[in-house]
Amino acid sequence: MNYAEAKKMLEGCGQEHVLAWWKKISKEEQKSLLAQIAKIEPKSLAYCQKALKAGTTAVDNSKGVAPKVAVLKGRKLAEAVEAGEKELKAGRVAALLVAGGQGSRLGYDGPKGCYSIGPITGAPLFYFHARKILARTIRYGRTIPFYVMTSEANNEATVRCFEENDYFGLNPDDVFFFTQGMWPGMTADGKIIMDAPGHVFMSPDGHGGLLAALKRSGALDDMKRRGIKSVFFFQVDNPLVEIADPAFIGYHVMEKSDYSLKLCAKRDPKEKVGMPMRFGDSFRMVEYTEMTDEQCNRRAKDGSLYFLYGSPAIHVFDRAFLEREAGKSMPLHLAFKKIPFVDAKGKVVKPSEPNGYKFEKFIFDVLPNARRAAFLAFDQKEEFSPVKNAEGSDSPATCKADMQAKWRRWLAEAGVSVKEGVPVEIDPAYALDAADIKSLGIALGAE
Ligand code: UD1
Repeated sequence: MNYAEAKKMLEGCGQEHVLAWWKKISKEEQKSLLAQIAKIEPKSLAYCQKALKAGTTAVDNSKGVAPKVAVLKGRKLAEAVEAGEKELKAGRVAALLVAGGQGSRLGYDGPKGCYSIGPITGAPLFYFHARKILARTIRYGRTIPFYVMTSEANNEATVRCFEENDYFGLNPDDVFFFTQGMWPGMTADGKIIMDAPGHVFMSPDGHGGLLAALKRSGALDDMKRRGIKSVFFFQVDNPLVEIADPAFIGYHVMEKSDYSLKLCAKRDPKEKVGMPMRFGDSFRMVEYTEMTDEQCNRRAKDGSLYFLYGSPAIHVFDRAFLEREAGKSMPLHLAFKKIPFVDAKGKVVKPSEPNGYKFEKFIFDVLPNARRAAFLAFDQKEEFSPVKNAEGSDSPATCKADMQAKWRRWLAEAGVSVKEGVPVEIDPAYALDAADIKSLGIALGAE
């Protein structure tokens, strides 16, 4: 794209101010600005402006009811595990990680997946995810291809982290990185925000950007070519997640579900997790920010929370459902933020109050489109302990403590007691569960 083309395009959508400092910026900056403008689609701008006009008018969630959540035990659990193992042994399962977020609450600059979390080794979050996939691949004798969504801001550092660690033992041919889209930030009146005279402020388009990115990158085609049926989705911040666990995969397949969600009992009524609700014949995720106090605290007859089960964002999607949804447009969510901007004199200002909007798509907005959805309960302490904040709840400290408590439970089951205060860490490729530890113990004993 050259200057004249950029000017024409911007004028066409009322954004000519993007070129206001053209003559004041260097040749290099001019080149980079043109490249940025080339990536902005007028259609997307109009979409953002439409979302701004509609505003954040709250959706009425008052008619939502708690969904039926399965708790698998005994024979039902065994059946689900068997069905899931069949899928894994047939090579019909993929893992899909969303790792494009900015980790701003944690105050960490790099990709969150590179954040050190191993209590002894200091291994990064990516290590625990990749080693679990490796362990399942070895256990079931078939590859679980690993699709990793990054953003433009962290793609290079993410790929480098995998390369420097030899892909944590995975075959690089089975790891597929793809980059989500970016949206420009806008003022309330729909003008693109420049955060430097030669630079447009852009931010990742949310994990819902996943669908378009899967399609654009060829990842969906790759899944099809490999004969994938079930896609296990998880977030980068939770090293406790049991990736591609057979019970969940099996339950999803047995239910012939398009979109299945693992849910866990909230630790307190105000816990910051999304809450799937049923509205008539379909389901919708109600974010924690949209729940009223009454909904958070409502009690069932037995005194337990009525909206008990929250979503830790652990899902299984039917690949064909992802394909169907990838072509559709998704709703946009607005976030009012402090965005650096260039003032009338060309100076960069860091505002002390929110001044502009970021736009995000959320993957769970496809839930109402699922022809069949399934909900499976699990024990939070076994599978969910995210790293969100630098301190306090959901921090590296709580996560490391939860990881170690889980490993200690496995060791205790195998008859190994570890003194209080002694740090514990287990490589997932060495032992994926308590049963692995037990068999390891027998093997060691036999030596
Ligand atoms: C999210 C969910 C919430 C769920 C909780 C569980 C949303 C809006 N809410 O909250 O329902 O209960 O996790 O931990 O998602 N990401 C991208 N690209 C982006 C933005 C995010 O890949 O543009 C990824 C992040 O890297 C991360 C995940 O999505 O892996 C979640 O993002 P985050 O912003 O941490 O979500 P939460 O607000 O914590």
